[in-house]
Amino acid sequence: MNPFQITDYISSEFFCDRTKETQKIISALDNGRNVTLTSIRRMGKTGLIKNVFYRLKSRKNLKLIYVDILKTEDMNDFIKAFADVLVKTERHNFMKKLSKLISGIRGKIIFDDMTGSPEVVFDYSDDSSATEQSMNKIFEFLAEQKEKYYIAFDEFQQIVNYPEKNVEATLRTFIQGQHKDRFIFSGSSKHILTSMFNDYGRPFYQSSDQINFTRLDRDTYVNFIHHHFKLHKKSIDKSLISEYVENLDVYTFYVQYFFNRLFESRAGKIDQKMTHKVFMEILAEREYIYFGYRNILTKFQYKLLKAIAKEGGVKKPNSGEFMKRHNFFQQSSINKALKSLLEKEMVYNEDGEYKVYDLFLSKWLERA
Ligand SMILES: Nc1ncnc2c1ncn2[C@@H]1O[C@H](COP(=O)(O)OP(=O)(O)OP(=O)(O)O)[C@@H](O)[C@H]1O
Ligand SMILES: [Mg+2]
Repeated sequence: MNPFQITDYISSEFFCDRTKETQKIISALDNGRNVTLTSIRRMGKTGLIKNVFYRLKSRKNLKLIYVDILKTEDMNDFIKAFADVLVKTERHNFMKKLSKLISGIRGKIIFDDMTGSPEVVFDYSDDSSATEQSMNKIFEFLAEQKEKYYIAFDEFQQIVNYPEKNVEATLRTFIQGQHKDRFIFSGSSKHILTSMFNDYGRPFYQSSDQINFTRLDRDTYVNFIHHHFKLHKKSIDKSLISEYVENLDVYTFYVQYFFNRLFESRAGKIDQKMTHKVFMEILAEREYIYFGYRNILTKFQYKLLKAIAKEGGVKKPNSGEFMKRHNFFQQSSINKALKSLLEKEMVYNEDGEYKVYDLFLSKWLERA
């Protein structure tokens, strides 16, 4: 198996560090506090939740529920996503435990033809009193269980897009009513989640501990990577690993992806020539997508994106120096284009520095 995972969480052996964050989350939950978890995209929030659950999985009388609500568009989708996971967790005894819940939410269970996996479908649509009642039934079900539940809602910022009124207040009421159960709210939209949980007057105000995390420690990551190559009897210098981890900005997904591809190569001894080849291959494979960005962005936005990429990161994109270096003339145009790139999530701001979000795109633009 390739030790550098880019999709699933396997076990703590293939997960680098995050010891402090993992402990902090577990301690908060164990002491009766909910947690809000934020980081920029692809830094490792989902992995961290899975790592927390992995640590807790052998605890008795504790159930761990992970609900990804990225694709949900309204309360009904939310309920369905939630109910699906509950049904899957209880699949061995759901006839006994879940029949009341399923009829309570006016649903039925169907089984996927291919996988045999259970899924909930609803008998109703667009009936707001039914929605509220279903929600009620789910939380009632949880309250009736003797086990304690730790429930993670990943991509929680999604709820602000639901069309129903008072979504936050409704959810907050239910969540607050769960005396034995604890919740993790996770997402990459730091400003949405921060204001949801910190603005006085909003339903979730101060109802959870906030944990924001950034990059792994570089040396710890380098050692982790070196260790896994060594286990598979592949030789590679630490200094070469370090060079790439640094070059990839210690950005988890991109580091994982690069070393996943490097590991794939059959060579027993990995040298500079090899790393360079793999890196250039990765960029070349994405080129057709990256060329497409020229059609999505205006010429000016594209030029600014390229300038930011070439700098690796820029603190003051409307400073005279930056403008001179890249042949820009108007501050106002830069501000406008920057705003648009931020909204499109092509660029992000971290500690006052603007960077291109997709690191491979950034590296490609640097060379273009
Ligand atoms: N500490 C780690 N050690 C090893 N791999 C990790 C670590 N953290 C995350 N990863 C891997 O990096 C990739 C990106 O992480 P993950 O999906 O958890 O990020 P995310 O912040 O949830 O991203 P998104 O915002 O897109 O949901 C995943 O493949 C994950 O397995
Ligand atoms: Mg995620």
